[in-house]
Amino acid sequence: MAADRLCVSRGKKQILRDLRFEIPTGSVVGLLGPSGCGKTTLMRTIVGVQRIGSGDLTVLGDRPGSSALRSRIGYVTQAVSVYRDLTVRQNVAYFAALVGAHNGEEAITSVGLQPYADQRVDQLSGGQAGRASLACALVGNPELLVLDEPTVGLDPLTREDLWTYLRSLADRGVTLLISSHVMDEAARCDSVMLMREGRLLQHITPDELLKQTGQDSMDDAFLALIRQEEAA
Ligand SMILES: Nc1ncnc2c1ncn2[C@@H]1O[C@H](COP(=O)(O)OP(=O)(O)OP(=O)(O)O)[C@@H](O)[C@H]1O
Ligand SMILES: [Mg+2]
Repeated sequence: MAADRLCVSRGKKQILRDLRFEIPTGSVVGLLGPSGCGKTTLMRTIVGVQRIGSGDLTVLGDRPGSSALRSRIGYVTQAVSVYRDLTVRQNVAYFAALVGAHNGEEAITSVGLQPYADQRVDQLSGGQAGRASLACALVGNPELLVLDEPTVGLDPLTREDLWTYLRSLADRGVTLLISSHVMDEAARCDSVMLMREGRLLQHITPDELLKQTGQDSMDDAFLALIRQEEAA
């Protein structure tokens, strides 16, 4: 995936400003930055539901939003996007039918929801409902998985399991773009994109970020980076 001078507006307001980045296939990229900086807007642009104002964006070698990309990308929105009055299995079957996929049961198993497969989503816990959304995004074995804050509200154990699973997907060649507020999660990514007010401050490996800022934690590193930017 590659962006060059990418600008995106929502309404009259310019949200994404002049983004340039490249994301290699099979890498896990963390998208970090304060609330309102444009993480969701960037994800929406990548999956093709947000119009590009100017600049270029190539996703899996194609134009975002092209019909050929539909079954190759999995997108989990920030809010739970599955049908609450359907069971996990019914939701997954529905999304599988949309993309002509047959791996629904595998998707349910891979997120650990087999024991709850026939439970309605509105009878699941928040974390379980989030995993139901993920299962729906996994049908069709997408090459690119875009996850908007998938670990919000998860307990440490479930979060750990989810990260282990996401890493196993990347090992199989899936590219992952994962947004988070939790800076420590950045340490699990191959690289992190740090955004602020619609701009990309840095696209860097976690180790490099710590080294460059001389900090021990990702939180402190991000704050140090912002101070550097403000001083410059
Ligand atoms: N539908 C919309 N119309 C106009 N502006 C919008 C719309 N949705 C979001 N915005 C604006 O776009 C900016 C970026 O929003 P976005 O949702 O991309 O941020 P974010 O980084 O995902 O934030 P959060 O971490 O809170 O999810 C914000 O300033 C927001 O006010
Ligand atoms: Mg968001």
